[in-house]
Amino acid sequence: MKKIAVLTSGGDAPGMNAAIRAVVRTGVFHDMEIVGVFQGYQGLIDGDFKRLHVRSVAKILGRGGTILKSARCMDFYEAEGRKRAHVNLVEAGIDGLVAIGGNGTFTGALKFGRETGFPVVGLPGTIDNDLSGSDSTIGFDTAINTVISAVDKIRDTADSHNRLFFVEVMGRDSGFIALKSGIATGAVAVMTADMGMSIDDLVAVLKAGEQSNKTSSIVIVGEGNPNGGAYEIAKRVKEKTDNYETRITVLGHLQRGGNPSCFDRVLASRLGVAAVEALRQGHSDVMAGVINDQIELTSFEAAVGVKSTINDDEVRIARILSI
Ligand code: F6P
Repeated sequence: MKKIAVLTSGGDAPGMNAAIRAVVRTGVFHDMEIVGVFQGYQGLIDGDFKRLHVRSVAKILGRGGTILKSARCMDFYEAEGRKRAHVNLVEAGIDGLVAIGGNGTFTGALKFGRETGFPVVGLPGTIDNDLSGSDSTIGFDTAINTVISAVDKIRDTADSHNRLFFVEVMGRDSGFIALKSGIATGAVAVMTADMGMSIDDLVAVLKAGEQSNKTSSIVIVGEGNPNGGAYEIAKRVKEKTDNYETRITVLGHLQRGGNPSCFDRVLASRLGVAAVEALRQGHSDVMAGVINDQIELTSFEAAVGVKSTINDDEVRIARILSI
């Protein structure tokens, strides 16, 4: 394998740049030529390639976002688009691909690999942490730290005014960001599918807090929660009790930006090296991840098929500590 390409796809995540840097430098270390593909799979289809050198990735280790840009590419869902991408890779003399992204990225890579046999190794790059095959995904640690810094600030004003805040966090349909940040900010409740908390349960928790002299409360709502988003939940609580002065904050895309944490920089660096080495050893259709501090390769099918489950102990302690 003499020439490999690297792309970032799906929602961006802090640490993607650190992963790109590690892929490029590991490739150069092994005398390989590295090509950057712009705009994710769209760049494969359009042939939007650029040679990357060691210095092309200087000073990006600590920068959020992705220098290669990212996109959710509808054309790659079609066999025709994947065929075009394959033709472009072959014409450019590229022998293997590193795809950095999440669920959608690996679902596309799985189909692409099956149809073309082209070697692809993935890296888990998403703030959602919703992939099997890695204890943490690149970007998750930074995102939860961004959330707790925002919620700590909300706590100051909530406390000054004795208010009840509903803070909505990202995660698509998974509750990892919500649960971790709920524990780390002392939220009175975390509303995600995994917590199984109804509106009545929430009202009961709020009442108990009131009786034990809680003056302000934060409810963390994970997007994709079956009871609705923060606005809907606040409205439904208000229908049951008018005891609280409520405010709502949707944190949104600020969770995707910012300089990656030390944890994410190191994770991305380890995985970038692992991805290139996996390609060189002949692996394909696998995602490189870290499980129990060891590099592990997991098939794309397993990485996207079985969603990691929430840690039951964290669910339990979130309930105990929020009284
Ligand atoms: O997958 C990352 C993520 O930020 C999710 O948490 C969120 O649901 C989604 O992407 C938002 O996507 P977009 O940036 O395309 O609106």
